[in-house]
This record gives sequence, structure tokens and C-alpha cells, in this order.
Amino acid sequence: MQEKMFEKGMIPSLKSRHLVLGVTGSIAAYKACEVLRHFVKAGAEVQVVMTESARHFVGPLTLETLSGREVITELFPAHKTVKTRHVHLAEWADGLLICPATANIIAKAARGIADDFLSTLLLAARSPIWIAPAMDYQMAVNPAYLANVDILKNRGVQFIDFEQGELASGAVGPGRLASPESIFYRLTCGLVSSSSLRGQRILVTAGPTREALDPVRYLSNRSTGKMGAACAIAAEWRGAEVTLIAGPLGIDIPQTGSMKLISVESADEMKKAVLENWPSHNILVMAAAVADYRPRHISKQKIKKDQKPMLLELEKTDDILSTVKKQRSKGIVVGFALETEDGENRAQEKLKDKGLDFICLNNPMEPSSGFATDTNRIVFFDSQGNRESLPVMSKFEVAEFILNKIESRLREGTIHG
Ligand code: CTP
Repeated sequence: MQEKMFEKGMIPSLKSRHLVLGVTGSIAAYKACEVLRHFVKAGAEVQVVMTESARHFVGPLTLETLSGREVITELFPAHKTVKTRHVHLAEWADGLLICPATANIIAKAARGIADDFLSTLLLAARSPIWIAPAMDYQMAVNPAYLANVDILKNRGVQFIDFEQGELASGAVGPGRLASPESIFYRLTCGLVSSSSLRGQRILVTAGPTREALDPVRYLSNRSTGKMGAACAIAAEWRGAEVTLIAGPLGIDIPQTGSMKLISVESADEMKKAVLENWPSHNILVMAAAVADYRPRHISKQKIKKDQKPMLLELEKTDDILSTVKKQRSKGIVVGFALETEDGENRAQEKLKDKGLDFICLNNPMEPSSGFATDTNRIVFFDSQGNRESLPVMSKFEVAEFILNKIESRLREGTIHG
């Protein structure tokens, strides 16, 4: 089974970000708990606000326990003295997410009705608003609902579209709440995004390649693609146009941004895709674990077992990175070096031989580094002879480090011509 991209430690940091999570009365309200867990794990501070009908579907205590904060349910609670909480909360929030959002709260937001805490807060809001609606199919296609959505979209409110699928009524169609993962991804893009790489076109490779032996077997490696995927996603958050060329990945990549995904299988297919796309990009991050050898012959039929030992004849694949700078010397090229011994010398040789600007050395034998882990420990070298040894970091943090280096190199390029 494919691992979700944002599970375990593979999450970007939302430390010191303030989010209001508004929960309204839909059967999908229970999914708000999972959405909330993602944000809390990412380090965000989340204030939950529930409407009265939401409380029929999920208990405030659940959301209170998960968020570590008292849930706001009433506009005029008997025991509270601060009567302008909606104004203070509107100032505090970096973003407001209504999840799930009923047709009712959407109508109130569109028309400016403020008759409970959440609708009043929406009227006072200063930060970006995201709405993840959930309702039955018939309601989702009603012209009144659609007109309200248009009004809010024109005001800059962002909608996180329904998922297709089975609804609580048994009907199949639009109306199902988007997956908690994609909701988290959309919000995170909005909360962490910057424009520091706007105008840059980044090509990223990720994952292993598979070299076929016969119709049912292949040679491959343990790469899952997490490092490359983290680079691609982090670059997208900085406003870059990203093309991700991926071998068979062991993770799900949220497809809610504008990233172009090209799926390939073999080293040869990856080479073709890279060489085809490189001329229209100015940065390449080659994080894929490309196979160095492939079977010389691919059997058309399934190979049968025999009494004798089997000898496999392998031939070398082409080195993709070595051809990239030959094809076009302009642009910034980042490689990875996966080494289990004499790593620093070998990484520096690869940096030179492959004509790279940067290389990230990692050792898959270290428990916190290499394939399938959520963390990585790299030693970073640049073409000017600089070396930096980094501590164990999440793969997103490593990606951010690499992108910072790319940005500095871009600035030097601008300064020095
Ligand atoms: N690479 C490539 N094409 C290949 C093999 C590797 O472009 N056919 C790239 C990888 O994506 C990585 C870099 O080259 O960015 C170094 O890969 P690595 O596996 O560490 O080294 P190799 O060059 O394959 O050499 P060796 O396996 O002998 O260490």
C-alpha cells in the first residue's frame, strides 16, 4: 500500500501559524478531527469553532482534546466576559478553514448574515478563508448554492472541491468532503507559500526506476521518492513552476497544486523525459535513484525456473546527469550521491564528473537517512568547494535547505551577470 505523503514525520512545519477551524453540521464533521490532527502534528495552533448543528455530529470534547484548546461554540457564553472574541480571533488567525462547510454556512457567508459565532467571525475575518464543502448531491447542484459559491469565489474565498464518491444518502456524485490530506495540503500551500521562486521552472526527478526482466519481474531499488517529492512540493510553495518526473513511487503525492507529473518506469524512460523537458526548465534537482544496470535481454515470456543456477546478464544504463549539462550548460543542476563508504570523496568526484552545481551526500546505512525514511542527514557540497554537514532533518527541511542554496545561486547569477 502506498504511504500517504504527509503521514508520520513527513510534514512541513506550520509552527507559530494560527488557524481557525470552523466545523458545521454535516455528517462529514467527524473528518474534521483528522484534518485537525494534521495541523496539530505540523505544529500549528488551531482554534476550533463549532456551530450548534455540528455538535450533533461530533462532540466538542473530541476537538478540544485534539487541539488542546477550549472549543468555541457560542456567541454569548454565560461564563465569558470578553464579548469581542470574534474580533480578537479574526486578528489572531493567519487563516480560516470551514470544514466541513454546509450549504447553510456558505449562504450566510455569501450574504453577510452573522447570527452565531462562526458566521460573525467570517464577517470579521481579515485573513484568507478556505471552504471545504460537504453536502448531498442534490444540494451541491442547486442554483442557489452555486450562486453563493460564485459570490464567495469572487471575493477571494478559496474552495476545496468535493471528492466524487458515495454520499451518506447512498447517492453517488459531487458532495463528498475532499480528503483530509488534500485539505491539509491546500491550506499548507496557502499558509507557507512565498514567491521567492516565482518565474523559475524546476524539473525534479524522484523515486526508483524499474528495469524489466520479463513480463512479471523487474530489478529496482528501495527508493520511495520522498526526498524528490519534498523538493517538488516545497518548490511549488515558493511559486516555481514544477515538473516532477517520477518513477514508481511508494507515496501518494497530493495533486492539488499546479505541479506537472510525468510518470515513468525505466531508466531509459526517465532519461528521455528529462532530456525532453530540461530545455524548458532552468533548474534540475535529480533526486531519483536511477538504476545503473538493466537486464541485457527482456524475456517476452515469464522466465521458467530451472535446476541450474541462473545467470543474469546486465548492461549499463546511461547516466542522465552527465548528459544534462552537455545538452545545455545553462541552468542550475543539483545531484544526490548515495554512498555507503568513502562518501565525501566520491560525492565530490561526482560533483565534478557530472558537472553539477550542488551535490547532497547521504548514506542509506544510517538509520535516519536514505531510502523510505522521513528524515535525512546530508553533507552538502557546491561547485566552489564549499562543504556543509547538516544534522538529521525532515526531508522537507532538507528540501528547503536545497532551495535556499538554489535561490542564493540565482541571486549571484543576477549580480555577476
Ligand atoms: N544518476 C543519473 N543517471 C543514472 C544514475 C544516477 O542521473 N543512470 C544520478 C542520480 O539521480 C544522482 C546522481 O546521479 O543524482 C548520483 O547517483 P548515485 O546512485 O549516487 O551514483 P552513480 O552515479 O549511479 O554511481 P555509483 O552507483 O557507482 O555510486
